Amino acid sequence: MAHSEPRPFRAAAPSAPLAGRLGVPGDKSISHRALMFGAIAVGTTEIAGLLEGEDVLRTAAAMRALGAEVERTGPGAWRVAGRGAGGLVEPADVLDMGNSGTAARLLLGLLSGHPLFAVMTGDASLRRRPMKRVTDPLSATGAQFWTREGGRLPLAVRGAADPLPIDYVLPVASAQVKSACLLAGLCAPGTTRVVEREPTRDHTENMLRHFGATVAVEDTPEGRVVTLEGQPELAAAPVLVPGDPSSAAFPIVAALLVPGSRVVVENVGLNPLRTGLFTTLREMGAALSIENARIAGGEPVGDIVAEHAELRGVEVPPGRAPSMIDEYPVLAVAAAAARGVTRMRGLAELRVKESDRLSATAALLAANGVRAEIEGDDLIVHGTGGAIPGGGTVETHMDHRIAMAALVMGLAARAPVAVDDAAFIDTSFPGFAALMNGLAGGAAIGPA
Ligand code: S3P
Repeated sequence: MAHSEPRPFRAAAPSAPLAGRLGVPGDKSISHRALMFGAIAVGTTEIAGLLEGEDVLRTAAAMRALGAEVERTGPGAWRVAGRGAGGLVEPADVLDMGNSGTAARLLLGLLSGHPLFAVMTGDASLRRRPMKRVTDPLSATGAQFWTREGGRLPLAVRGAADPLPIDYVLPVASAQVKSACLLAGLCAPGTTRVVEREPTRDHTENMLRHFGATVAVEDTPEGRVVTLEGQPELAAAPVLVPGDPSSAAFPIVAALLVPGSRVVVENVGLNPLRTGLFTTLREMGAALSIENARIAGGEPVGDIVAEHAELRGVEVPPGRAPSMIDEYPVLAVAAAAARGVTRMRGLAELRVKESDRLSATAALLAANGVRAEIEGDDLIVHGTGGAIPGGGTVETHMDHRIAMAALVMGLAARAPVAVDDAAFIDTSFPGFAALMNGLAGGAAIGPA
């Protein structure tokens, strides 16, 4: 799973508009959680639609190393025989979480509540990312952490033998930090309480309930208060993973930008804490419609219809950031094609993603002849009104979403767009190029 050789790619305008129906791979957030919860539930959890991207495969390997039986029974079909909360065993070797911040941070929550010693590392991107945001609150359980300078990986953890419940007000809007605290709380007696000022994705809360835990959520003047009753008996439960809205974002924006296109992305997760991009695109003038809206596996899902549209620049408020935190690179591409200026506000968290996504996104635009500025934590994009020059090479900095956003831009630009390395796309969206080429009816995206 290590990427020794970079894979340069390029994208050019397709010879025909994008057309057709497609499904995108399973939701990454839900896939990680399904494997972890399956591993600490009593009984056998059957998962359908699991994302078989490298990030999630790291979680599968880690749960095996911690004693769970994890087996692939078919495409996207996985079976996890759980050990019960508190039942994980000490791993014999270092846990390598690859490129995945979600895998690393959620797992640290779980490990905190188990009396075991573990060492965790990741790839060069993950080893640069902050872990103190989880080790700080998790230390209150009694777990001990030894980290590199700045709280970075590799780190060692000795989980608490008698973990204490956490009561924590999140200093940043982060579903990963919230989830790490809740996962630690599964092994502690009493009530774990996490307060978030801005609501973040609630897949952990939803899935905990699905596995039988008691989780209460209350909106208060202090923020959203999530409480979990400790030491529940988690019972194995089937999980149906919907398509990832963060992956659907790429074909949807491509369809909006390439004249004459009409694309239907089927079975997309539409959890309201994930759909900020679609709200923003509508404000920009996109006619996105939802067909076949339904509830599947406890999450709202639907088919999204996207057609080419003339877009206009908008102001994206900072409060919307948690509901579209992974979508700013591709929104910036849509903004580059729009008429007028788009100002995206409150993007500080983008600096600590797989890359510094704020500067990587600005650089992506600049390399392709689009004017963009960073002002404090805001990104300002000067739209071209549909005439993106292109012709640049984008540095992806080990970041799948920068790579995919750049390639989508190439489909809509006057000159092809190149990326230095498309290999990391496999972390979240295996088959991305083939899928996009299927819509284009030819090889619009391929090796450079
Ligand atoms: C995720 C939460 C987000 C998001 C990441 C997945 C999750 O990170 O960027 O891709 O599954 O909980 P933060 O919670 O750190 O913002």
